[in-house]
Amino acid sequence: MNLFSRSLKSILLWLLVPALLLTMLTALGLSNKDLRKQITVAYDRSLVGALNSLNHNISTQSGGLSLEQPYTLLEFYELTANANVFFKIAADDGLSVIGNADLPMPDMALESGKAYFFDTDYLGEPVRSVVMAREAVPPLYGDNSVRIIIQVAEGIEGRESFINRMLWRSVWRDLLLITVVMVIVIVGIVFAVRPLERLRHEMRSRTINDLRAVSTDGMPKEVMPLVNAINVHMQRYTEQADRQRQFLDDASHQLKTPLSVLKMQLDYALRESDPQELREVLLSMNEGVDRAIRMTSQMLALARVRDSLDTQVWQQSVSVDLGELVNGLVRDLWPVIRERRIDLEVIRPETPLCVLGVSWLLQEALRNVLDNAIRYCPRDGKVAVSLDRLNATTAQVVVEDSGPGMTEEDRQKAGTRFRRGKAGKHLPGAGLGLAIVTTILQMHQGHMLLEPGQALKGLRVRLVFTLSSGQ
Ligand SMILES: Nc1ncnc2c1ncn2[C@@H]1O[C@H](COP(=O)(O)OP(=O)(O)O)[C@@H](O)[C@H]1O
Ligand SMILES: [Mg+2]
Repeated sequence: MNLFSRSLKSILLWLLVPALLLTMLTALGLSNKDLRKQITVAYDRSLVGALNSLNHNISTQSGGLSLEQPYTLLEFYELTANANVFFKIAADDGLSVIGNADLPMPDMALESGKAYFFDTDYLGEPVRSVVMAREAVPPLYGDNSVRIIIQVAEGIEGRESFINRMLWRSVWRDLLLITVVMVIVIVGIVFAVRPLERLRHEMRSRTINDLRAVSTDGMPKEVMPLVNAINVHMQRYTEQADRQRQFLDDASHQLKTPLSVLKMQLDYALRESDPQELREVLLSMNEGVDRAIRMTSQMLALARVRDSLDTQVWQQSVSVDLGELVNGLVRDLWPVIRERRIDLEVIRPETPLCVLGVSWLLQEALRNVLDNAIRYCPRDGKVAVSLDRLNATTAQVVVEDSGPGMTEEDRQKAGTRFRRGKAGKHLPGAGLGLAIVTTILQMHQGHMLLEPGQALKGLRVRLVFTLSSGQ
């Protein structure tokens, strides 16, 4: 399992515990060294003390080497040092020795009056020893050149066990500290994660239709972007659900009437035996089916356009040349234009006019406007399409026809779904074309204006677009 797919708690513990243990071990290593040094200094100091008391008790008054009460002294010292203690007092010519004669000596020259420490083994155990040489006053056997060597050694187990005790104590103290830190961390995490738990609980207990925004009250700052993203997502989902509901409402509303009319015609046809009458009914049914097909395809087009408002359609945005778009449409609609004997005039701009947008959507918008102009103007009518730049950032496509035009009321209500105007009443149509145009233009930061015709006296439709930058 990936480390970061674990819970926050375990991630922190997995990172913290080894880090703390490592820190503790390093600190222990360092303090072990320090501790040894300090304890050695302290123990060495008392070893020198023992050496000095031996030194004071040495006498050469008799001409030979003698020591007063050496053993009581050492027994007492042994007790305080908590280890075996050995000593040796010798003349450096080796002729007289008191104490542990075979105590090993360091192999170096000894300066008089100076204490030397060294580690060695004695009787099979490691010992720490101090040694000092001094002049004999009065001289030994009357010989001035003979010095007295005083040496004390003690077993090191006393100091080792002391060091170990100290180290264990600091290990326990550190472990206690780590445990306390862990508890604090876990409690902290539990508190910090509580809002997330609340969020999870809230989301899980919601019903499927509950798409209200999640409250950000009491959320930690780090979680806020996540909650906001969830809310944006739910908002989009709500809008999409609304659009789908609208489509269903539209579809059922609009198809119910033509279907029941078709059903009535069918019933009538089934009862009818006169072939002439039957043919009339079938022709009228054919028209009805055509109307239903047209309505359905327009409704689907509108749903598609609305849906594209917030789907990936915008990723298809390119710079679209409006002139090219008009040319393509004219080619497409040419059969209808010729059949209705329409005199079509297209006035193109001197420089290309480009709009940033989705080509097929812009084409759909223009197609609806051009289709209306062609269909609502009489046979042998006139349609003029012109493209002009309004200023540095906007351009317009104007479609004017010599048809009946639209009343003031019809123009104001244009773009309302399923609303058909005066001219549309007697011709097939769904009343969705201008609604589609309005939606598409909104998406492209443009707008549609309907005006009474100027040159041709019919309807003048102006589609105003924002040009793509850099033109
Ligand atoms: N060029 C035009 N001339 C006259 N009336 C028009 C023109 N364009 C649109 N209309 C009116 O606006 C109404 C709505 O148009 P539209 O939304 O395209 O739906 P449809 O064409 O299916 O009726 C039409 O029914 C018609 O009355
Ligand atoms: Mg139309």
